[in-house]
Amino acid sequence: MNNFTFYNPVKILFGKGQISAIAQEIPAGSRVMITYGGGSIKKNGVYDQVMEALRDYEVLEFQGIEPNPHYETLMQAVDIAKRKQVDFFLAVGGGSVIDGTKFIVAAVEYEGADPWNILAKRERVTKAAPFGAVLTLPATGSEMNSGAVVTRVSTKEKLSFGSPFTFPKFSVLDPETTFTLPKRQISNGVVDAFSHVLEQYLTYPVNSPLQDRMAEAVLLTLKEEGPKAVQNPQDYNTMANFMWAATMALNGVIRVGVPTDWATHYIAHELTALHGIDHARTLAVVFPALLRYKSEDKKEKLLQYGERVWGVDRGTEDERIEATIQATIAFFESLEVQTKLRNYEVGQDTIDTIIRRFEERGVKDLGERADIQIEDVKQILMLSL
Ligand code: NZQ
Ligand code: ZN
Repeated sequence: MNNFTFYNPVKILFGKGQISAIAQEIPAGSRVMITYGGGSIKKNGVYDQVMEALRDYEVLEFQGIEPNPHYETLMQAVDIAKRKQVDFFLAVGGGSVIDGTKFIVAAVEYEGADPWNILAKRERVTKAAPFGAVLTLPATGSEMNSGAVVTRVSTKEKLSFGSPFTFPKFSVLDPETTFTLPKRQISNGVVDAFSHVLEQYLTYPVNSPLQDRMAEAVLLTLKEEGPKAVQNPQDYNTMANFMWAATMALNGVIRVGVPTDWATHYIAHELTALHGIDHARTLAVVFPALLRYKSEDKKEKLLQYGERVWGVDRGTEDERIEATIQATIAFFESLEVQTKLRNYEVGQDTIDTIIRRFEERGVKDLGERADIQIEDVKQILMLSL
C-alpha cells in the first residue's frame, strides 16, 4: 500500500427531515447567501424547507447556476456576495450548484490578479468563505469532497480545482429531496458514481485488499440499487442507498493508499465543454475505450473487477477482460446511457479539436502510470467513435 494522508472534515446530516437541522450548523447572525440552479428546488419543496430552517437569518438568494456551472454566472455571485458582505453560503442542488459554490467561496477571498487563474493556472487557494450544502442529486460526491469543475462559456473550457479550504462545512443528504429527479439524471448519477470508483480502483495492484473491497462494495451497491432507483425514484430506501453510495464513491475514502487514474474524466470534460453532453454520458463513452486501450496495463485489476463485480470467471484472460468491458457497457446502456461518440453525433472533427486543444494546453502524462500522452488520447477517442 502507498503512503497517504487522509483529511475529510465534512459533517454529514443524513436522512429525511435533516434540512431542519442546518440552523445548528450556521453561526447565528450570519448573512447567508443561498445558491441554487434553474428552479427544481422550488418545485419539490426543498426551497421552502431551507427557507424555513433559515428563518432567523438574513438570507440572500442567488439563482440560476447552470448544469456545468458557468464561470461567467459564478462571477456575478462573487460580485454580489462581496458587495453585500455575505458571511456564509448554502448550496442547494446537484453537483453543479455545489461546485459553483465552491468556486464562489474561493473567488470571494481571492487576492490575486484574476480568479480564472484558480482554474486555468491552478493557482493555490489559500482561503475561502465557509459554506454548507443541501444535496438534491446523488452523483458527483461534491457534497463530501473539496473539488469543483467550472466551465467558461466564452472559451468553451471546462476545468477543475480543489483545495483543503473548499470542503463544505456540512452537507445534508435527505433522500426525499431526490424524489423529483428525472430518470435521465438518476441514470447519469449512477454512471458518474460508478465511474468515480473505477477511476480509483481499475489501476494496478498495490496490495490494498481493504480499499479494493470497499470500492467493490460501492460498485456492487450501484449495480444493484442503480436500476431500482431509475425504476422507482420515490422509494426511500433505494434512494438512500444510492445517495450514500454516490457520496462514498468520491469522498476520498476508497482512494487512500492506492494509485488513481482520472484520465477518463480529463478527456471526457472536453466533450461536455465542446458539445454540452451530460458529464456522465461523456464518461460512458470514454471509459470503455480507455479500458480497451489500457487493458494490458490494467490487466490484474480488470480481471479482479470482472470476477468480483460481474461474475466473469471463465475463458482466457483476454476473453475475460473483453467480457468485463462488455458487462460494463451493457450496464451503462441498460440505464439508457449510450457509449459511443456517434450516439451523440460527435465525429472525427471533434477528436481533432480536442487533440489541438490538448497540444495548446501542453497536456501530458495522464493516467495512473502518467503514461497517457496526446497520441494515446487520440487512439482512445478513435476507439470510442
Ligand atoms: O438546476 P436545477 O433546476 O436544480 O435542475 C437540475 C439540473 O437541471 C436537476 N436537478 C437537480 N436536483 C433535482 C433536479 N431536478 C429535479 N429534482 C431534483 N431533486 O438536474 C440537472 C443536473 O444537475 P447538475 O447539478 O448539473 O448534475 P450533477 O449533480 O450530475 O453535476 C454535474 C456537474 O458536476 C461536475 C460535472 O463535471 C458537472 O459539471 N462534477 C463534479 C465533481 C466533484 N465536484 O467532485 C466530480 C464529477 O466527476 C463531476 O466532474
Ligand atoms: Zn464524474
